[in-house]
Amino acid sequence: MAYPQFPQGFLFGAATAAYQIEGGWNADGKGPSIWDTFAHTPGKVVNGDTGDVACNTYHDFQTDINIMSDLGLSAYRFSVSWPRVLPEGKGRVNPKGLDYYNRLVDALLEKNIRPFVTLFHWDLPQALMDECGGFVGRDCAGYFADYAAVVVKSLGDRVKNWITINEPWEHVCEGYFLGTTPPGRQNPWQYFRAAHHILLGHGMAVDRIRAISPDAQVGITLSLTPIFPKTDAAKDRQAARVADQFLNDFYLDAILRGKYPELLWNRMWLFRPRVEPGDMQIISRPLDFLGVNFYSREYAHYVWYIPFLQAWVDGSFTAEEETIINGMQYTASGREVFPPALYDLLLRLKDEYGNLLMYITENGAAFTDRVENGQVHDPLRVAYLEGYMEQAARAIRDGVNLKGYFIWSLTDNFEWTLGFAKRFGLVYVDYATQQRIIKDSGTWYRDLIRNQDCHTNTNRLRVAPFKDV
Ligand code: GCO
Repeated sequence: MAYPQFPQGFLFGAATAAYQIEGGWNADGKGPSIWDTFAHTPGKVVNGDTGDVACNTYHDFQTDINIMSDLGLSAYRFSVSWPRVLPEGKGRVNPKGLDYYNRLVDALLEKNIRPFVTLFHWDLPQALMDECGGFVGRDCAGYFADYAAVVVKSLGDRVKNWITINEPWEHVCEGYFLGTTPPGRQNPWQYFRAAHHILLGHGMAVDRIRAISPDAQVGITLSLTPIFPKTDAAKDRQAARVADQFLNDFYLDAILRGKYPELLWNRMWLFRPRVEPGDMQIISRPLDFLGVNFYSREYAHYVWYIPFLQAWVDGSFTAEEETIINGMQYTASGREVFPPALYDLLLRLKDEYGNLLMYITENGAAFTDRVENGQVHDPLRVAYLEGYMEQAARAIRDGVNLKGYFIWSLTDNFEWTLGFAKRFGLVYVDYATQQRIIKDSGTWYRDLIRNQDCHTNTNRLRVAPFKDV
């Protein structure tokens, strides 16, 4: 089998997030997050699932680290739970929470696996939601930076790769505008305020991280979604441009250019957030890398009833199982499989934003996995990963400065409002017993890493600090 080939030093990783795997939702003094509150509210998550136990990694991370080591992974992206470290979101530190992440980092380094730490992957402390509406309140930006400083002071001697925020659009748009995730609001004014403040929090955190750990590599992770017009009609093409700015450029331009995109900014005059002098300079602090989460492209069509958007994106439908529609394959969570879109996106980022160093911080898929004789055969996931990783390798050959790939996800886990029904892991989790089974895709990834012509896996972390990347 021919495997996609990557340059010397390329990082092969996998990604997870605290609420999706840790469990221990109220263990050792952890405060509640908005996801605890939401999942505990009947009717919010499929099957009434919660992250109370999830993959139980709060009580046992070593099992999964051993698996990563066996697969030959060179990096692991995980997130820190803000309310585990600061139960009220600010002020008092929970030493046991910090201790957990210290032990986790040490155990990774012990196996030569480089930690990439996300500081915020949506599990906002409930206390801050109560105090200031989360990022709707401007104060939340400063609280986030203070929290980042606490974590970096504790782990920064060993962790050199920091991701401030995971997917700001998803957190604030789904939470405050679409209302599908906590706090479940449908308020465009709150949406744009929260969007501005979460970006401000990102920039403030960048400054704090650099002050504490000058040799740290700092970035942010955005979920980027190429938008295509649903038809060739002029109105749909215009809708696609606006939707592209709403989903992608709003964040990219703010962070990398220090301004919000003009077309959207003009249209959203009624909903504009208050931008204080100096905010855009803070938001656009230079970064060491951009984290790209890539899942699928979407189609936009014109609708008249959202005047500030004049566009809406065809949201993914939620399929029960993988399916083929009009010759296109969809995953079990209804996302179109179209690998060339990743190549196009990476080239676009290179051409429009100055060939910044990038990592794919998430890419992966849910498919229907079944255990047969103690094994999980997931040929669709293998084909999916092979397709997307080949497009990433092609983008590198064409000059894109991509330095690593984190598959979503290491293990099956709590897929937000879809609960445990959708499995994204390279490793199968039996939630009743917490047993792990490495799927065929996990073995495939191991073999891909082993079969790099340039022996990339000899580049696994040997010594800190990691100045090479
Ligand atoms: C996201 C999140 C992940 C998801 C993953 C699969 O992109 O939505 O960062 O936490 O679980 O994307 O849907």
